[in-house]
Amino acid sequence: MLTMKNIIRDDNPLLRVVCEEVILPPSTEDKQTLSSLLEFVINSQDPTISKKLGLRAGIGLAAPQIGVTKRMIAVHVTDDQDILHSYALFNPKIVSHSVELTYLKTGEGCLSVDRDVPGIVPRYTKIRVKGYNVDGELVDVRLKGLASIVFQHEIDHLNGIMFYDRINKKDPLTAPEGAVPLER
Ligand code: NI
Repeated sequence: MLTMKNIIRDDNPLLRVVCEEVILPPSTEDKQTLSSLLEFVINSQDPTISKKLGLRAGIGLAAPQIGVTKRMIAVHVTDDQDILHSYALFNPKIVSHSVELTYLKTGEGCLSVDRDVPGIVPRYTKIRVKGYNVDGELVDVRLKGLASIVFQHEIDHLNGIMFYDRINKKDPLTAPEGAVPLER
């Protein structure tokens, strides 16, 4: 079972690696890694388990964050319409996206970043993602709002990109024109 000790922080160069595709059908080891990512995120949202294990609450996790530079992500998030989006995917890929941008009003956070980094992180409002579940079956999903933002944050990790890379350094709190803010 993963704990905070397994999560590398953003001084670790492994978070800057462009991760490798997972070979499908997935190996037993890759399946176990993928399942452990989702298990961690679910545990981190459980008051009893997270307290016992000392977990920081998260809504997504990518394999490079545990030092595995392969394309795997887990997302477990309830959106503003009370819909649970729970996914563990190999080789997730954004196949299309809206023109419209959004961003979290409160900015983004990351389990690999132990500090607040204020600033607007522009994201596509809607995306369509294709990937493969733990059994190697194709998953094709359309996401919007918070779920869309989390997927983009996690897929960025697979390309060595941190959320703060997307903050405008000269003007961190000004949103791109037309971007629609999202409250969490
Ligand atoms: Ni992150």
